This record gives sequence, structure tokens and C-alpha cells, in this order.
Amino acid sequence: MVQLINAITPVKDAREILAQNYDLKFTKAVESETADVFERVRDKIAEVEWPFFAPLILQINKLKREKDAVILAHNYQTPQIYHGVADIVGDSLQLAVEATKVKQSTIVQCGVHFMAETSKLLNPEKTVLIPDSRAGCSLASSITPEDVLAMRAQYPGAPVVTYVNTSAAVKAVTDVCCTSSNALDIVNAVEGDEVIMIPDQYLAQNTAKKTKKRIITWAGACEVHETFTAADIEELRSAYPNAKIIAHPECPPDVIEAVDFSGSTAGMINWVKTEKPPKVVMVTECSMSDNVASETTGVEFLRGCNICPHMKRINLENILWSLHTGTEEIVVAPELMEPARAAVERMIAFSDKGD
Ligand code: 13P
Ligand code: SF4
Repeated sequence: MVQLINAITPVKDAREILAQNYDLKFTKAVESETADVFERVRDKIAEVEWPFFAPLILQINKLKREKDAVILAHNYQTPQIYHGVADIVGDSLQLAVEATKVKQSTIVQCGVHFMAETSKLLNPEKTVLIPDSRAGCSLASSITPEDVLAMRAQYPGAPVVTYVNTSAAVKAVTDVCCTSSNALDIVNAVEGDEVIMIPDQYLAQNTAKKTKKRIITWAGACEVHETFTAADIEELRSAYPNAKIIAHPECPPDVIEAVDFSGSTAGMINWVKTEKPPKVVMVTECSMSDNVASETTGVEFLRGCNICPHMKRINLENILWSLHTGTEEIVVAPELMEPARAAVERMIAFSDKGD
């Protein structure tokens, strides 16, 4: 029989241990100190949960100052994380760029593993923590460095543009990284008429439609976005005839063709804040519209979303645990640091030029 060994030892009584070290009671004082956060999340969480969340939010904010830590959170994190404890929020590109600027000695990455690894690559001297290292990504797990080397051998001379949603080992055999917000610009900027763009087949196909270059891709997909179909968009159109529908470019091309706008998570947020459509459906991860709703008046957010189980591994309790214990620390093999960082830095340098 094969024995599966989980690298993580689940801490069953984490809440109990935390309660021994921190005051996690919901008192009148806690209620009033967290009232501003509650205002931003009250429509998005069950009210009965607040007495559980509020003390954790206060303790996390206190402890991160004591431990000289900063919290970077992706736009897909839950409203209580996004509005309650994050210092910096954004899409993958914004988080990578901001990671190069932080002053604190510890970064707590509230997002998935590849995001924390990217922060570590850009901050080798800092401690980078992820509250649950099992927070993976179907794209990152779809490809290995050996796969990339085989593609290089098959298409000699074609530059490799790799989505940041990959491991450090894959980035290390990459020419330049990209995110969904700069993919087209980076593909157009690299040399040659033929580009290997991995591992998201849909981001690659959506990019191929906008460039003259020939794109060679990989069969990876985001498990959250690949399930949306053009029929879903049609259904949404008939259910909400006056709503704008916007989607992430990890969706299949026929979905992207059927929507009113597509862009990175930050691109979608900016679009809603600028266009202010009376009604909008964000075809992406569910926390997006929850997070942006309290920052945007006059826009009704309608449901048409999926949940990313990896992003949802991060919660207030394991963030406090992470700060309390200094776990789980991101370690990148020394031989991967330099080449993987170079691929990310080339992308950031490119984005700086584009600003
Ligand atoms: P963004 O770069 O658009 O934030 O996307 C990250 C991601 O994982 C989307 O599924
Ligand atoms: Fe990966 Fe998709 Fe989850 Fe983003 S939403 S982390 S691409 S599985």
C-alpha cells in the first residue's frame, strides 16, 4: 500500500493554543475597535461570524507590528482578510512589484504558494511566510522544468514566456515571466515571431488572438476559470439583460469573446471603478466582487463566480498562527534563486518601462 505523507502537520487545537496566548474574546472594546472593518464586510459575511473574526483581526494587526511583518493579500482573499488585515492588496503583478518595496523583515503572503515564492525570490534576505503551504494552483502543478526543457528542445530559439502561476523551478528555466495584466505586451516585446507561452492554454489562446506572433502553449488550465462556458455567459445575459459581464483571461476564448471586458483581477476592479456600470457580473473568483463592492457605490454586483479552493485555505486563524509561530516559511533551493528571480525581475523591469 502506498503511504501518503503530508508535509503539513495539521494543528488541530490551533485555536485553543492561540486562545492561551491572545485574548480572543469578543468584548465591547473589540467590537468598537473593529467597527470600521465590520462596516466594509457586513453584507459579505454571516453576522454570527463576526464575534469569531473581530478578535483575530485585532490580534493579527497588533502582532504584525510587533513582529515587523507586512501582509500582502491577493484580490481573491476573503473580505475579512482583504479589508481586515491586509496592508497591500492587488493582482499578481501588483503584489510582485510591491514585494520589492516593503521595508518590514517578514512578509506574510495571503494568497497561493507561487505568490509567496515570488515574494521570496524578490526578497531573499526576508522571511516569507504562507499561512498554509498547501495553497497550490492547478496551473503551477500542471508543468515541470523538464517539460519546459523538452519544449525548448522542440522549438529551439523560441523565447519562453512563463505565467507567474508556476513554481520557482519552472521560472528558473524561463526567459521572462508574465501575468495576465502584461502578457500581451511581454509576448510582443520578446524577440522572434514564435513564442512559447506556458502553462495556461487559455491565457495563451486569448493572447494569440491579439498578437501577430505564433504562440506555442501547454495544456494547463485554471480549475476555477476553465469551467466557465459561452453558454454560461448567454444564461447570465438572459438572466441579467442590463448587466455588464466581465471575465478573467484564464477563461476559455469563447467566454472572453462573449463578455464586455476581460482583464487581470486588478484590471477588472479598475474597469468597474471607472465605468461604474449599474449592474455587473464578475466571471472569476467569488471574493472579487465581495471585496470591491464595499469600495464602489452605485454598482450592483450579481453572482456568476466560482471559488478557488487554494485561495480559501488562507484564513484569519492560520494567519495569526503563522505570525505566532513563524511558519510556514518559504524556502527556495539556492540554485533556483538567481535564474528564477531574473525571469521575474525582467517582467518587473518591463512593467516599469510601460508605466
Ligand atoms: P491576477 O494576476 O489577475 O491577479 O490572477 C491571479 C490568479 O491566480 C487568477 O486566477
Ligand atoms: Fe490558480 Fe486558478 Fe486558483 Fe488562480 S484561481 S490560484 S489560477 S487555481
